[in-house]
Amino acid sequence: MSFANGLPIRRFDAVIVGGGGAGLRAALELSKAGLSTVVLSKVFPTRSHTVAAQGGISASLGNVQEDRWDWHMYDTVKGSDWLGDQDAIEFMTRRAPEAVIELEHMGMPFDRVESGKIYQRPFGGHTAEHGKRAVERACAVADRTGHAMLHTLYQQNVRAETQFFVEWAALDLIRDQEGDVIGVVAMEMETGEVYILHAKAVLFATGGAGRIYASSTNAYMNTGDGLGMAARAGIPLEDMEFWQFHPTGVAGAGVLITEGVRGEGGILLNSDGERFMERYAPTVKDLASRDVVSRAMSVEIHEGRGVGRNKDHVLLKVDHLGAEKIMEKLPGIREISIQFAGVDPIKDPIPVVPTCHYMMGGIPTNYHGQVVVPQGEDLEAPVRGFYAAGECACASVHGANRLGTNSLLDLVVFGKSAADHMIEFINNYGEFKDLPADVAEETLARLNRLDQQTNGEEVAQLRQELQNCVQSHAGVFRTDAILKDGVEKITEIAARVGRSQIHDKSKVWNTARLEALELDNLIEVAKATLVSAEARKESRGAHASDDYPERDDVNWMKHTLYYAADHSLKYKPVHTKPLSVDYIKPAKRVY
Ligand code: FUM
Repeated sequence: MSFANGLPIRRFDAVIVGGGGAGLRAALELSKAGLSTVVLSKVFPTRSHTVAAQGGISASLGNVQEDRWDWHMYDTVKGSDWLGDQDAIEFMTRRAPEAVIELEHMGMPFDRVESGKIYQRPFGGHTAEHGKRAVERACAVADRTGHAMLHTLYQQNVRAETQFFVEWAALDLIRDQEGDVIGVVAMEMETGEVYILHAKAVLFATGGAGRIYASSTNAYMNTGDGLGMAARAGIPLEDMEFWQFHPTGVAGAGVLITEGVRGEGGILLNSDGERFMERYAPTVKDLASRDVVSRAMSVEIHEGRGVGRNKDHVLLKVDHLGAEKIMEKLPGIREISIQFAGVDPIKDPIPVVPTCHYMMGGIPTNYHGQVVVPQGEDLEAPVRGFYAAGECACASVHGANRLGTNSLLDLVVFGKSAADHMIEFINNYGEFKDLPADVAEETLARLNRLDQQTNGEEVAQLRQELQNCVQSHAGVFRTDAILKDGVEKITEIAARVGRSQIHDKSKVWNTARLEALELDNLIEVAKATLVSAEARKESRGAHASDDYPERDDVNWMKHTLYYAADHSLKYKPVHTKPLSVDYIKPAKRVY
């Protein structure tokens, strides 16, 4: 084995960080192309957060009612509040049917309609003929679609001989003098050994970072590792002010109750027993887009029509669907409700509240999955050898608000397109470029500081403060004053994170070290979120400001780029040219 700066080197054509849907879809393509491919994952791949996706994957198959990819495109652009890039949105929605059929052919066990075709259910913001009526577009495996997808992709990767480094964490990106990405520094969690993974190309598929919020549907491992590594390596983060609150997290627990419940006919009620969404979205009601429903719920609660001892949630009524339908289409939801809310939805409504669910922003990419950054006059120059896909990436197909089930679609479409580009890049230009002499120096310094620090604050305490700060300063509704205060607080917490310490070193496991390293990533994401949100003086999608209640297309139809080194912001235009169809012009967003 060879070494660099004292660390052992392992070499692969392609290194993929993250074993969720995007990472596995990309790995499959790369392995099938005969390239040596390794997937690093903090958990066993089938436990990645994709496993928690419930309601479905969108595709205009039209198995239940007529549907078309350009209607899907229109809904996605409108859902994004016109911040989504229309070239990328066309790319994704056009490829959706083929991506789903591919999964079916791999063996994904979709539910079926009478004719034997894939079952589809309605979801928020999915409409026919540009908003005229709700349409069934979400292809589902009961309420366990992500679980089925992840297992299917994992099995296909085993067959294709993808290599897996399980319980490995990537710590930092390696760039050479020209700025090209040539590998990652990684830690085997069991032993704490640090390695150099030298590669011809690297793909980040590290998922979301919902754990910057105190209440989130995200897994504990969703700590924005890819974003933290990218930010430390000088890559800007795009549109970080846009965080999706899913309308139906279990009140008090945060666990997801799929929008598929409302797709199957579930309705939201306030303390007067009123189906209040009829007032906010007269056409599609409970199936309006998520930002709209979450804001409506927050208004109901704020105006005193919340339910429960503290009037702090609303109710999701399902019993009218009948036991048979609930058991067949929503079995996981019934289990979650019983375990986390103590109610059986066959008899009683589920207490729900908007909960942080999804990061629309991320590492800037084009629709080939190439990471793109401003360089000189060029606002989108590719970083050679560096790719990102899935929630950690900002393609940007979700803009200011994502439609439900477009996330699973994003994973497979952009996982594959990134792999396609990587294969071409590796086959034509791929080489193991020289590692810098001081490779991993900063990572090793970080690890040494953590191991030796004796007068710092505890990681868990600082993480809680970070989460409370983001929760109360970057919620469903925002104001200038709340955001300004949030930026000050998070800057102060960040300084303390730089002096954090693992307490009681006699009992240190590498998991404690890992939590400290994850905190370095969480803080980068939290800072990016608050700084970007404070700067945006309008309301668009998930960024709703009481001080600027209207969308401002003249001044703010642009993407934010946040630079961690000096907390500065740049902006770049939204791509308004689709690939083959006409531009979908901005309009008022009503449902
Ligand atoms: O509600 C859900 O099932 C979540 C789906 C999604 O976030 O796409």
